[in-house]
Amino acid sequence: MRAWLMDSYEGVEKLRLDEVPDPQPGPSQVVVKLIYAALNPADAFLAIAQYPAKPKLPHVLGRDGVGKVIAIGAEVENAKVGDTVGILRGATGVDLWGTLAEKVAVDSNQVVPVPQGWSLEEVAGAPLVYLTAFQALTQWSDPPAPPSSGSVLLVTGASGGVGSAAVLLGKSMGLTVIALSRSAEKGEKIKQLGADFVFNPNENGFRKQLLSAIAPKRVDIAVDSVGGALFNEIIATLGYGGRVSVVGRSAGVVPEFNTATLFFRRNRIGGVSVGDTSPEETRANWNEIVARLDKLGKRPVVDGVFPFLDVKKAFSRLAQGPMGKVLVKIAD
Ligand SMILES: NC(=O)c1ccc[n+]([C@@H]2O[C@H](COP(=O)([O-])OP(=O)(O)OC[C@H]3O[C@@H](n4cnc5c(N)ncnc54)[C@H](OP(=O)(O)O)[C@@H]3O)[C@@H](O)[C@H]2O)c1
Repeated sequence: MRAWLMDSYEGVEKLRLDEVPDPQPGPSQVVVKLIYAALNPADAFLAIAQYPAKPKLPHVLGRDGVGKVIAIGAEVENAKVGDTVGILRGATGVDLWGTLAEKVAVDSNQVVPVPQGWSLEEVAGAPLVYLTAFQALTQWSDPPAPPSSGSVLLVTGASGGVGSAAVLLGKSMGLTVIALSRSAEKGEKIKQLGADFVFNPNENGFRKQLLSAIAPKRVDIAVDSVGGALFNEIIATLGYGGRVSVVGRSAGVVPEFNTATLFFRRNRIGGVSVGDTSPEETRANWNEIVARLDKLGKRPVVDGVFPFLDVKKAFSRLAQGPMGKVLVKIAD
């Protein structure tokens, strides 16, 4: 089969398309012949050694995908040859070879059917970012649960994979959703997704406008994938007991953070790690995500689809800031 090989930790520009032996299924694995794969910023971070996993080389990136099962291991009970399946977050593309290849061997507990009525494109890129947004929204109670209906949610980087997922899941939970995007064009699309308010975080006075739009309420929960200088602005919008789920830091480190900003409204900050759930929890969360989107009548957003040979162009598009997921078409 053909696969995009990562021979060094020098970035996705150095990926190389080559022939490699077909994967064989382990006892609990299935081999999926991929139709679409989806990109995540973590692939690009892993390729420059800015990710906890340091798989041995050559490696194949790609954590999301959809395709047909073409072989199964002796112990597999939940899938059969010929099934069309999506792939949930697991070791795929992290410690094991991933989906930027014509075929991939994955643990059978990672594969799920294509939800009824969803296109292959919609399922290809959804699992990782929706599981992330779901954890970010539900992690504040024990056991995890959605915030109470009517709460105010702030989503940064709302046009991105995680951001657009947080907007839709937030609406499915009855939250008032405030979305931030630097782009007016993407802002319009985020409104169409159902966000109640969209603001440009680069515009002077955006925080004042945001707070007057929701007054006398303030933000109850923020899902932040941007960080950088915006992080302090987010903290300043929180109400009493307001929480920030920290997903990413596309804008880099927070230049200066005064811990005193957390004191008087008893605010809390918590990290999100999509890989930190058991396969059973991951499946249960995925099933809830699908049910929520179905009830809302919405589907995951696809930014665009690139041919298999144009994986590097697809990574460039991802780096620009997409509207939804960037996919790679691998086969018909
Ligand atoms: N912790 C976890 O488990 C986990 C899981 C998934 C993702 N992540 C991380 O979360 C981040 C977002 O992931 P994603 O898949 O949503 O990425 P994405 O699809 O590339 O979207 C990120 C969005 O953030 C905004 N953005 C990008 N660079 C920015 C900058 N320099 N300043 C301000 N805004 C910026 C852009 O929105 P606008 O152009 O609309 O402003 C962009 O669309 C990444 O860092 C990723 O690694 C973490």
